Amino acid sequence: MKLYNLLIAAAACVAASESRSILRSRDAEPGKGRDALKFPASTLTPSSQKYWYEEIEKQGTSPFLEGGEDFKIYRNVQDYGASGNGSDATAAIQAAIDDGGRCGGGNCGGYTGRQAIVYIPGGTYLISDTIRLHVGTELRGDPLNMPVLKAESALDPLVRGFDPELVPTTTFMISIRNIIFDSTSVDPKSSMRLLDWAVSQTSTLINCVFNMPDSSEHVGVAQEGEPDTSNEGGGSPIIVSDLTFHGGRVGLLLNAQQCTLKGIRFVGCATGLEVKSVFAATFHGLEFDTCGTGVNMTKEDSVKGGVSFVDCSSTNSDVAIDAMFTGHGAGSAIIDNFANDEDKVTFQAGDIRLTGDVESYVMGNQYVDNSNDPFVNNFVSSEINITRPRALVERNGKYLVKAQPTYDQYNVSSFASVKDAGAKGDGRTDDTAAINKALQDNADCKITFFPHGVYIVTDTIVVPPGSRIVGEFMSMISGSGPNFGDIDHPRPVVQVGQKGDIGLSEMTDMLITIAEILPGAILLEVNMAGANPGDVSFHTTHLFIGGIAGSEVNQKCGTSPVDCKAGFMHMHLTNTSQAYIENMWAWTADHSLDGAGASGFIGTGRGILIEAIKGSWLMGVSPEHTDLYGTNIANAENVYNSFSQFETAYWQPWEPHPWTPNAAYHDPDFSNCDGDDNPQCRMGWPLRVSGSKGFMLYGTGFWAFFNTWDGSNYTGNCPGKYCQLNAVEVTNRTEGSYLFNINTKQIQNLVWGPGTDGSAQVLAEQAHNPGSWPAAGGILAAYLGFSD
Ligand SMILES: *[C@@H]1O[C@H](CO)[C@@H](O)[C@H](O)[C@H]1NC(C)=O
Ligand SMILES: *[C@@H]1O[C@H](CO)[C@@H](O)[C@H](O)[C@H]1NC(C)=O
Ligand SMILES: *[C@@H]1O[C@H](CO)[C@@H](O)[C@H](O)[C@H]1NC(C)=O
Ligand SMILES: *[C@@H]1O[C@H](CO)[C@@H](O)[C@H](O)[C@H]1NC(C)=O
Ligand SMILES: *[C@@H]1O[C@H](CO)[C@@H](O)[C@H](O)[C@H]1NC(C)=O
Ligand SMILES: *[C@@H]1O[C@H](CO)[C@@H](O)[C@H](O)[C@H]1NC(C)=O
Ligand SMILES: *[C@@H]1O[C@H](CO)[C@@H](O)[C@H](O)[C@H]1NC(C)=O
Repeated sequence: MKLYNLLIAAAACVAASESRSILRSRDAEPGKGRDALKFPASTLTPSSQKYWYEEIEKQGTSPFLEGGEDFKIYRNVQDYGASGNGSDATAAIQAAIDDGGRCGGGNCGGYTGRQAIVYIPGGTYLISDTIRLHVGTELRGDPLNMPVLKAESALDPLVRGFDPELVPTTTFMISIRNIIFDSTSVDPKSSMRLLDWAVSQTSTLINCVFNMPDSSEHVGVAQEGEPDTSNEGGGSPIIVSDLTFHGGRVGLLLNAQQCTLKGIRFVGCATGLEVKSVFAATFHGLEFDTCGTGVNMTKEDSVKGGVSFVDCSSTNSDVAIDAMFTGHGAGSAIIDNFANDEDKVTFQAGDIRLTGDVESYVMGNQYVDNSNDPFVNNFVSSEINITRPRALVERNGKYLVKAQPTYDQYNVSSFASVKDAGAKGDGRTDDTAAINKALQDNADCKITFFPHGVYIVTDTIVVPPGSRIVGEFMSMISGSGPNFGDIDHPRPVVQVGQKGDIGLSEMTDMLITIAEILPGAILLEVNMAGANPGDVSFHTTHLFIGGIAGSEVNQKCGTSPVDCKAGFMHMHLTNTSQAYIENMWAWTADHSLDGAGASGFIGTGRGILIEAIKGSWLMGVSPEHTDLYGTNIANAENVYNSFSQFETAYWQPWEPHPWTPNAAYHDPDFSNCDGDDNPQCRMGWPLRVSGSKGFMLYGTGFWAFFNTWDGSNYTGNCPGKYCQLNAVEVTNRTEGSYLFNINTKQIQNLVWGPGTDGSAQVLAEQAHNPGSWPAAGGILAAYLGFSD
């Protein structure tokens, strides 16, 4: 098979650059990724081939765990007595999860102190009692020979990803990948859930299969915690990707604040996706095959704000989308490219019935001009014309998507550990030189592996073209020292390529952070563009400022953000870059996950600045709690954004503002607030777009919770019911841009920009567009004032 020719190339990898062939960009297969179901693992791979991660030397450590020198990150369930021969493995798997003093709620070493990867080799494992994960657990199967967790009886659930010592909105850092969940031997009439997935940001659920009996009462994935308790539903995950469901009553049950669901196949499910409750969601690349109903959104108020369907399809299903929307906002829907059988119902809601292929359609409040006139701009249920930027789509017209690489086509000899190259990852040693040398040596040659740990760097890590970097459950690169301290000369902690570089760079399972207050630190800067779109990518790579052990930010920030300019910016996609990013939380901590130091006054200047013109794909990317803005799209072109969540810094508004706007970075100067003494005007913009073309936004969750610090607590009693004045600014002849499903909580003005007379003004208000966050939010289905 084609993939295996590459292994021969790998063996030939030598220093001479003309012989370096292993990591040519063609082999990145942009937009493809491996589909576990299309290629059953057993036929894909020569049996001699072993998954590199099983083989590689385990060098991961947890540097900030007191007395944790011997703590094991990696556990193979077969070392705990599981055999994979079909016998009961429950106790063995649970022992592997719990070993090393691990417990729930982050109560034994915080969220990051006792992180563990529980590895399950191929085989069948009978499960007779619920498997319980704790925060900081990754359940990882062999992607070449995916293990089967087989339910012995009607367990509810078979695996509990949600940590009940927390609430769903704080169950972070849970990961499950490369596993087949199987309930086919369980009585179809009994109720059971295969996976309870009431989790939040930094959770990862990818490349799994859920096999249930046809016509059964089983539910594959339920994002709903413990029903009928205070722990029910309401998680705030960023993204769930690349899954397959077979059979069952429901494939995936969505009950969460928000989510992007991407690349999910539902085969023979009575209902593929049931929406129990969601404020806002983006459904990208869902495929329904022979389901009774593709999506059931018929429960009243199940969709409180807006949902977007992008590049979805249905074949041989009775009804693709069954909705009961009450109209006028709540329950808005955007459909952009839905393929269906000619005679089948694609969307039904009340009297509305669309059949066959639906190119593009909007149901909800649509703004066609910039007059802020609710009589011109009102509720519609109609077709719409959407022109997608060519740079964002593949030949078939669909937006480019890319699955997280597993690198299972390479064996262990293709990997090089940075620890073997001299890096320590101990949270103390300066690893800058060792890592930079390793990356140069490995370019076009080896896949660079970062064993779990904290790698202190005192200067920029430069990722050259021809790089593949893979971490081990949030391996951290942590910036430290005066090089990142100069607010006037900000410097990246990690920089992907030099301006103008073209090539390949992939990064997965990493976390980039800073060890102390560093007002000149840009966590990640991307300059490189792909030889092919998608060649420069990031999956499950997060950007944190504060909140975790090993960072002094929480302790040092005190009680005033003016004294705490903790970091300059989370991420900068510069004007020569072209990047595909999936599953990224750019989090400035509003609390501490690891105990010590609970400051909530961390000030990070900026979230994500995008100046790229060749294409940017943000698939499940959410900045939170930054001061000047969440996302700033400046003179950029061709930006796809699946769903973006943002929350303002909880301590805002705060006078004086901690940051002086820097024009070189397109900072907002809040001149729109001149003459307005409402301090809520000077809070961070969730989103700004200026001088840009082809910005395609398919959903937001801009949530403003607080705006008063009473000396000991934040309070949510925002006067006059708004916590913040403005959500989205669009300026400077932005064109060819579509803003869909703007969901807000307690933000007075949804869109601000040039009105019909050209002067900057309020273009859409929450009051005219109620919905989304219950009793306090807004939903605007389509803002088209900048689409021409
Ligand atoms: C890895 O693959 C290469 C090329 O096929 C082969 O030469 C080598 O022996 C393999 N190494 C291991 C450890 O399997
Ligand atoms: C499966 O493995 C278990 C544990 O190693 C062993 O006790 C049992 O006999 C094996 N069963 C079969 C059918 O091989
Ligand atoms: C759709 O979901 C609702 C609950 O949200 C349920 O009551 C109803 O039976 C479902 N319809 C179908 C056809 O499954
Ligand atoms: C879409 O564009 C076509 C061609 O320009 C036009 O005829 C049609 O009226 C447009 N439809 C909508 C809903 O704007
Ligand atoms: C790209 O940005 C740099 C500053 O980062 C600027 O000097 C350059 O002119 C820009 N190029 C284009 C084509 O906008
Ligand atoms: C406010 O803060 C004080 C002191 O930290 C705490 O004891 C109290 O419970 C808080 N009140 C509320 C309503 O959260
Ligand atoms: C709009 O463009 C002008 C001129 O290029 C610039 O001075 C101004 O800062 C821009 N405004 C925004 C909000 O980007």
